[in-house]
Amino acid sequence: MRTDTAAPVRLEDYRPTDYLIDTVSLDVRLHPTATRILAELAIRPNPAGRAGAALELDGDELELVSVALDGGALAPGAYEASPSGLTLHAPPERAFRLSIETRVNPTANTKLMGLYRSSGVYCTQCEAEGFRRITYFLDRPDVMAVYTTRIEAEEAEAPVLLGNGDPVERGALPNGRHYAVWRDPHPKPCYLFALVGGKLGRVGGEIVTRSGRKVELGVYVEPGKESRAGYALDALVRSMRWDEQAFGCEYDLSVFNIVAVSDFNMGAMENKGLNIFNDKYVLASPETATDADYAAIEAIIAHEYFHNWTGNRITCRDWFQLCLKEGLTVFRDQEFSSDERSRPVKRIADVRALRAQQFAEDSGPLAHPVRPSVYREINNFYTATVYEKGAEVIRMLKTLIGPEAFKAGMDLYFHRCDGTAATIEDFLACFAEASGRDLSHFSLWYRQAGTPSVAVRTAYDAEDRTLRLDFAQSTPPTPGQTEKEPVVIPIRLGLVSAQGRGAPLKTADGRTLEDGLFVLDKTADSLTLIEVPADPVPSLLRGFSAPVRLEQELGPAELLTLFRRDEDPFNRWQAAQTYAMRLMVRAVEALRAQQPPEFDQGFAVALGELLAATDDHAFAAQVMALPSEADVARELGREIDPDAVLHARKALRSFVGQTAGDRLAQTYSRLETTGPYSPDAASAGRRSLRNAALDLLTAGDPGRGIPLAQAQFASADNMTDQIGALAILAQHPGPAREEALAAFGEHFAADPLVLDKWFGLQAAIPEAATLDRVRGLMRHPAFSLSNPNRTRALVGTFAMANLSQFHRADGAGYAFLADMVLQLDGSNPQLAARLLGAFRTWRSLEQGRRAQAETQLRRVAAKEGLSPDVSDIVTRSLA
Ligand code: ARG
Ligand code: ZN
Repeated sequence: MRTDTAAPVRLEDYRPTDYLIDTVSLDVRLHPTATRILAELAIRPNPAGRAGAALELDGDELELVSVALDGGALAPGAYEASPSGLTLHAPPERAFRLSIETRVNPTANTKLMGLYRSSGVYCTQCEAEGFRRITYFLDRPDVMAVYTTRIEAEEAEAPVLLGNGDPVERGALPNGRHYAVWRDPHPKPCYLFALVGGKLGRVGGEIVTRSGRKVELGVYVEPGKESRAGYALDALVRSMRWDEQAFGCEYDLSVFNIVAVSDFNMGAMENKGLNIFNDKYVLASPETATDADYAAIEAIIAHEYFHNWTGNRITCRDWFQLCLKEGLTVFRDQEFSSDERSRPVKRIADVRALRAQQFAEDSGPLAHPVRPSVYREINNFYTATVYEKGAEVIRMLKTLIGPEAFKAGMDLYFHRCDGTAATIEDFLACFAEASGRDLSHFSLWYRQAGTPSVAVRTAYDAEDRTLRLDFAQSTPPTPGQTEKEPVVIPIRLGLVSAQGRGAPLKTADGRTLEDGLFVLDKTADSLTLIEVPADPVPSLLRGFSAPVRLEQELGPAELLTLFRRDEDPFNRWQAAQTYAMRLMVRAVEALRAQQPPEFDQGFAVALGELLAATDDHAFAAQVMALPSEADVARELGREIDPDAVLHARKALRSFVGQTAGDRLAQTYSRLETTGPYSPDAASAGRRSLRNAALDLLTAGDPGRGIPLAQAQFASADNMTDQIGALAILAQHPGPAREEALAAFGEHFAADPLVLDKWFGLQAAIPEAATLDRVRGLMRHPAFSLSNPNRTRALVGTFAMANLSQFHRADGAGYAFLADMVLQLDGSNPQLAARLLGAFRTWRSLEQGRRAQAETQLRRVAAKEGLSPDVSDIVTRSLA
């Protein structure tokens, strides 16, 4: 067993291994409780390592059956084995063969790392350090080997046997057993190893790559669910085509398989040629999946496929470089979705998520740089910072050097680093070379944590017709980093006048500001624009050109000008959000001073105008989705009272719903759809606006909205409209809600992925009775703490998406979550640590809640024998 005293791993301590492993030959005999793994490793001393060093192989909860060197038994004193490691004290100073037999119990593996069973299907998860739970190995990404895997199983139990690479052989064996051999010719780190064995249905396809290679595609799902696998297959084909066109990346094996499993800690995993997915991100049908589910499936299928080049062909030297593959691959999947759908709407959705997840993380005790320099448990660094901020850094790089140099840099990276385990330095060197730019200052984005703020002051001189913009940046301190340096911030900007379009941007030295890009790389700097005809409204940070907080003093009239006229759709949306945010912040202040909140009409009127004029439904729906309670809490920053936030937001929604009621009702009826469901972006946009209109309408006038929601709930032929209606009903206590919830629960009783939506909806109800409701739902026959999706849907939604109830003033929400974390830590520490992350903003609460949260964090910390996962999070949260 590992203990809670895991020593920190530091980037600065990196050194190459003393041995290399060139080939791995595995013979896996699957058995529910006693699977045997025979591993034959071709090992040699690493010229870059220390000669004559001991060979220390990693292990985790392993049972050693036998070990042999070059076919001969090892003397008892020549090695030392424990569940957590196998050491050869003095291995030969030449190439040798090590044969290791281990035994594992996949049925008892509740951590879902290594080899485990999900609904009876054998599957694996090796990233980051799961391979050591299968066999003893140098379990780190800079050890790359060619793998051959032979899988043997009882044919009745596991008719389908899948491995990495190309299938080479399969056959029957005596006693109802059979086997398959897979070979992956591409050297890879062990975290990309995978195997699957079980009863699975298959949906197949085929693609010819641009150089004429035929690839067989397979999506494997629970038998009977084949009809829900078609969209994933379609998304895969589109991803493969897109990666050839956009990045010149071609697939490199004869087979590409995807397997959906129902017990999975994360979203999905990019194992070479054999991606394994959380079934939530594969299975979709109109009756069971929402438009958002379809979009997520498309994005994650693409993400894992894109890893084949950014992650697999070029992998990471060590886990500090995780963003090398994750940030870049998120950037690539975001680009893909932007091309397949609406680019501005995708950008808005991504920025919403970035702010909700990454900004929150970055402002609390768990803040860390995109490339961390120390960790105790690497699983805790699969974070919004590494993924989402990592993608923003790539996007800024592209903005700064321009699309052509970016393309040239990517080409150079693929060419130069293919087949290697690379670093951020290797990556950036390619772009420095391709662009002829010095990127050393830019690289600070990888090392410095925290969200920079950019404050802007503008002054228009009517006589000189000049506009002066003064910028100042600062980054608040984060754990371990008190002093911050200025970073390189690309600020895209334009001018919007009350009359119409913006003028070209000319600077004082007579240049035109190219693409409207100003680069702020000092603590303070200013920009003077000349020949500015009339006092304009500066539209700054267009497209959210950098992951920063912008502090710009704009009045209501200026915000409305941007909202109505900005040619940049992101900033149009942003202006509306900023307006609504201001109203809510003021309402929170009023409520805390026992005053009724008051709102002006401007926002509601502008919203009504948009509804009347727009044909971009998805965009309008994004405008209508007001900043969330968590957004408002983040904006307040300190001494947060979640009840005041809830009521302020409710009050604004109700005010807008009343003020724009007729327009909302018209929109709702105008957008009614006929004909069969299609998940395409335009249809999805229509549905999202229609549901958003009903939502606000109901917030303003429940008597008018609830019957409409009830009718929609009863007649919907697709999950988007059905759950959309149910979500509206869930916000309004009464028999309409309870009846609809009961009907839905009954109808989908046999469909766990759909029930997850139902669990989540109920866990998110902002009422005092919700905690008891959640407790009750934990006894529902479909609920199980051993399934991560169920747990996240019910417990996770309560803790992460129900601000007022998780943060109940009496601390009962915190106590409940602490109970869950402690209970889960014994079985699935990764999941437990994730849930504990809900406390990450605890210091910004008002003091009563802060004290309650601290009590529960201390209770968790005091528990003996905590996993390294939970121990790491709780220690950092309290530091
Ligand atoms: N590489 C996977 C991805 O595509 C994430 C796997 C993380 N798994 C884990 N147990 N930490 O993002
Ligand atoms: Zn990834």
